[in-house]
Formats: sequence, C-alpha cells, structure tokens
Amino acid sequence: MRTRLAAGTAVLLVLTLAAPASAAGPLKHNTTRWVGSAVAAQHLAAEADYRKVLTREFDSVTPENEMKWGTVEAVRGQYDWSGADAIVAYAGKTGKSIRGHTLLWHSQLPDWVGGLEAAELRGVVREHIAVEAGRFRGKIRAWDVVNEAFNEDGTRRQTVFQTKLGDGYIADAFRWAHAADPKAKLYINDYNVEGLNAKSDATYELVKSLRRQGVPIHGVGIQAHLSLMYGFPEGVRENIARFAALGVDVAITEADVRIPLPVTPEKLASQADYFGRVWDACHAVKRCVEFTTWGFTDRHSWVPDVFPGEGAACLFDENLRPKPAYHRLNRHR
Ligand code: XIL
Repeated sequence: MRTRLAAGTAVLLVLTLAAPASAAGPLKHNTTRWVGSAVAAQHLAAEADYRKVLTREFDSVTPENEMKWGTVEAVRGQYDWSGADAIVAYAGKTGKSIRGHTLLWHSQLPDWVGGLEAAELRGVVREHIAVEAGRFRGKIRAWDVVNEAFNEDGTRRQTVFQTKLGDGYIADAFRWAHAADPKAKLYINDYNVEGLNAKSDATYELVKSLRRQGVPIHGVGIQAHLSLMYGFPEGVRENIARFAALGVDVAITEADVRIPLPVTPEKLASQADYFGRVWDACHAVKRCVEFTTWGFTDRHSWVPDVFPGEGAACLFDENLRPKPAYHRLNRHR
C-alpha cells in the first residue's frame, strides 16, 4: 500500500496522511471474514487493471449478473453459462471463494417464466435450481437461494413465485438447492434488512420458522445498499446478532454507499463512516462471516444507472485509487 500510495497524486497524499501506518496491505489480510466484491465477467476479460485490483484486494467474488436466471436461460432450454463459467474459472485460478447469486429472484427473470401456470412453474423452478446449483456443485461456498422476498412492511412480495406457488416456495427452493449442492451454505438475501425494522423482523421470523421445520437454510444475506441521503440504519449490530442467535451465518453481501453528487471530501468521510459502521457491526458478531461490496470501483457501479444524481458508491475511485472508505475498513477489524 505504501508504494502504491507514494506513486499517487496529491489526493492520495491526503489519504495517506489520514490513514495510520497500520493501514497497509490488501483488505483480506486484516480480517478472518471473507472479504469479497461483485465482479462482472466482461470487465474481468477486458481490463487488466480491474482484474489486478480485484485479485489483490479480495478473497471472494460474487458474479454481478452472470448467474441470474435471465442471463443463464433467457430463452427456455437454451443455456448460456459463458459469463458464469469465466468467473468460476478466474476464481479457480486465483484461489477466490465464490458466492453464487442468485437462484430465485423476481427481477432479471426471463419473460417466459412469468407466463407459466402454477404446476408447470413449480417444475420449471425446481429444474432451474437443480441445473444451476448442480452445474457448480462443490464450487460455490454460499448461494443466495432466494433474493428479495419481502416488501418493506414485512409482507411477502407478490412475485410470480409467491402468487402462483404460495408461501411454501421458499422452503422448496432451499430443499432443491441443498439436494443439488449439499455443501453450499444456503442464504436468503435482501436489502433494507441491515437494521431493526419490519422487513428484518419478517426475515427473522421466516428463518426461525424454516429452521424449526428443518429446512436447509444456513444464512441471512444483508445487501447493505446504503445512501448518504438517508440516516445510518438503527440497530445493525443487534440485528446481525439476533440472526446469528438463530444458528445461522450472516453475510454482508452487496455493500455500497451512494453519494449524492457532487463528491466532496466531507461526503467521502461520511461514506467511510457508513462503510466502517457496517464493517464493525459484522466484526462484532462471530457468525457474520463475510463482507462483500457490490463492485469495488466507481468506474463500474450499478448506482448511477439506477439512482439518478447519486454515485461514487464504491471503495475505489474510477482510476482504482483507494478512497477514505477503503482505509477505514483496513483500520478496523
Ligand atoms: C444489479 C446489477 O449490479 C446491475 O448490473 C443489473 O443491471 C441490475 O442488478 N440487488 C441485487 C443485485 O441483489 O443482483 C442487483 O444487481 C443490485 C440490487
């Protein structure tokens, strides 16, 4: 880190001064948790500097879009595993762990799935999970089996799975995933479940009930898409701790902190604080086993496309220089 910073610009000099001498080395060397990033296959293939920083800083990768149903089977029966396979191959070569994302989600779902009747849909979902989790059997540390199943008020999101298959679709999905890849840790994953609120309450109750029924669910994924436009969520540590008390692991799966543009030094400091508080909350609970960010560079982030007027949500800037948030994480473990 010293040499990298010494070669940098005035901006980096400020960062260097702000960071204590202990802030050296890749993030992964400073914690027993998995430290990961979402990765996009096309950037991995096209950009050597992107690949280099990813390889240096992280020990786990999550395919950003490459394992979504809409990517792997946009046309019924025609599979495209090219992106997923490329990331799995990269992980194999570089010794990275893989978080699979995601088997069942209402978004980025192929059109043809939406039109199916209940009985056929059930068979198709079962087949999709068997095929995808089966293809990567033994290679995926953790799967986001079901993504974003709840509304903000804690009721079930009225997805095609929920409305046609009923409440039991979640338990079924976990059983099918477990059958296909018995060693993978199986997670339910959602956003706005960082702190204590109606949505995290509902997630908690569901996990409790699934565990009681013996359903193979092993973890809760907390996306942690945060924005400086909102206050930091209440009770993150308590929330992580209550999930862990159910006997499951917890993972921070998609952390980023959006900045209302333009970026200023003050906002970068607040962003560092938000990232750091999530990091600290995870490190305060033994069973919080992973801290993954949704991409690592502002050069490639989903944020500007989806949240107009916001951006710069990652740990590294467009030129792959570490931002204050990066140093904040390295300091506290
Ligand atoms: C996002 C990707 O980053 C974008 O490239 C894509 O266009 C839309 O999906 N929650 C999730 C992720 O679980 O899969 C989403 O990823 C971001 C929100």
